[in-house]
Amino acid sequence: MNGRFISLEGVDGSGKSTQASMLADALRDRGHDVVAVREPGGTALGEDIREIVLGPDAMSPWAEALLFAAARAQLVADVVRPALEAGRWVVADRFLDSSLAYQGTARGLGIDQVVQVNAPGIGDCMPDLTIILDLVPSSASDRRAGRASVDRIEGEGEALQEAVAEGYREVARIFPERIALISADGSLDEVHTRVLAAVIGGT
Ligand code: TYD
Repeated sequence: MNGRFISLEGVDGSGKSTQASMLADALRDRGHDVVAVREPGGTALGEDIREIVLGPDAMSPWAEALLFAAARAQLVADVVRPALEAGRWVVADRFLDSSLAYQGTARGLGIDQVVQVNAPGIGDCMPDLTIILDLVPSSASDRRAGRASVDRIEGEGEALQEAVAEGYREVARIFPERIALISADGSLDEVHTRVLAAVIGGT
């Protein structure tokens, strides 16, 4: 595989989806063939799972973790692996580290346990670089307040989001060779410049 795989991560309201699409555009401008994906979703099955996992039904932490893992396994098989094998770049709006922060840490399932259930579906398709947009949860909360709709997980409130932010910092400490923790404070363009520097600097 000679493509490059970049994932963007952050709490809800960190601006990660906007930054993922700005990054994909900037890489295309540089002549790279880029596939942009988002999790959960990106395949027909994954979009169905997204409806279930973000829908209103109560679910146990492990049911939640396994649904995200199933959507991810399908995305890897159908999209990520073929793209990397074809030498394309993949920019993912969330990947494994979302499960490590939300389910592993915030839900208390344990980072190692969540890595283990995801590993068979991911195989060797791990991101070359993961960018975590780090934002104090109160700023993310202000950004979230402007949104029209919130999903089941976002709707759980600030304590969960603070646990997720701490989870991301923990994940960044565990995998320093893969993860860059970048401040999400500032304008879209300022954050984009930091993100692009982390990606281009690593090529
Ligand atoms: P996302 O699509 O980023 O939300 P939005 O469209 O509102 O930006 O993510 C949906 C939610 O799913 C978000 O609250 C984070 C959560 N999530 C997990 O808890 N674990 C995971 O593995 C993934 C991929 C997402």
